[in-house]
Amino acid sequence: MLKTVLLGLSRAPLMKRIVVGFPLTRWMVDRFVAGETIDDCLRVTHRLLASNLLVTIDFLGEDTVTVAQADRVTDRYVDLLDRLAAEGLADRVEVSIKLSALGSLLKDGYELALDNARVICAAAARAGTTVTVDMEDHTSTDATLRTVRALRTDYPWAGAVLQAMLFRTSSDCAAQTGEGTRVRLCKGAYAEPPEVAHRAKSAVDRNYQRCATILLEGAGRPLFATHDSAMIAHVTSEANRVDRTASSYELQMLLGIRSDEQRRLAGLGHAVRIYVPFGTDWYAYFMRRLAERPANLLFMLRALVERPGKKRVTSGF
Ligand code: FDA
Repeated sequence: MLKTVLLGLSRAPLMKRIVVGFPLTRWMVDRFVAGETIDDCLRVTHRLLASNLLVTIDFLGEDTVTVAQADRVTDRYVDLLDRLAAEGLADRVEVSIKLSALGSLLKDGYELALDNARVICAAAARAGTTVTVDMEDHTSTDATLRTVRALRTDYPWAGAVLQAMLFRTSSDCAAQTGEGTRVRLCKGAYAEPPEVAHRAKSAVDRNYQRCATILLEGAGRPLFATHDSAMIAHVTSEANRVDRTASSYELQMLLGIRSDEQRRLAGLGHAVRIYVPFGTDWYAYFMRRLAERPANLLFMLRALVERPGKKRVTSGF
């Protein structure tokens, strides 16, 4: 119930103005978002790399309403990729993109978003790294997968994201098991209707495990995005069963969530990649993180009645 309310609010302009304008929110946002500039984001990236973690960087934005805005997001990614190359980070750091940030919600938006995604992939190819296309709500699934297929003609390493909460996902996984195919499997962060998605956590978890097995039995490079220990245990035991090496798949988590576990898994020899968002347009991303764990909301409310700086809680997520 609370989750549905928070996900609804993630798209409410008035609530956005209130939350973004409230000074203490920033303190909480800092847990999930690596600052506003490329320099901020690279500082966090260097810290993660020093702990043997890999990184995927997301320039936040999903409210693109003009072509000029979509172009600015694209340019920002190109700048970022040039910096990754210049600093010798491209072997360990890739980028994640959202088609809505690249213009998909405008008229003929998917063509525009594809053109922009091609520009970003070209910059990634020059830098020597990869791009993963995030998945948004279920109304965009077909168009997003079509876009990834189009990108793969020139950039076969372009990654797709599939969401275990959707009924369709096991067949989408089965269709993406070819040699080298990069697919990130997550549970799904959007409020979806019961016609298309599992609602119970147990059903989402069962589907995640089923999809994970399909991807691991294939010849691709699966990327398992989850903080859920039961999902991770399933992935590692299935990887052993099918004789996968630890370097042939990745475990992925979000910045600021289970940071100790991220380092522990990397210490065991797993390839662990952290999703690092940065930028000023953090509102929707932040609200989805609150929705995933009501305790985060309680934590934030408590922060509002305490003086900032008086007590900084640094663990838990
Ligand atoms: P679940 O929500 O069941 O949480 C398991 C445990 O993890 C919790 O008990 C808690 O300990 C911890 N946890 C999870 N979320 C937390 C939070 N916000 N704060 C604190 N603790 C938390 N979604 C999407 O729809 N499209 C996409 O493209 C992506 N991309 C993506 C990339 C990467 C690298 C990750 C890790 C995740 C995504 N997601 C996503 C988000 C994903 O769909 C999902 O919403 C979250 O990962 C939470 O699901 P879990 O699998 O962690 O399980």
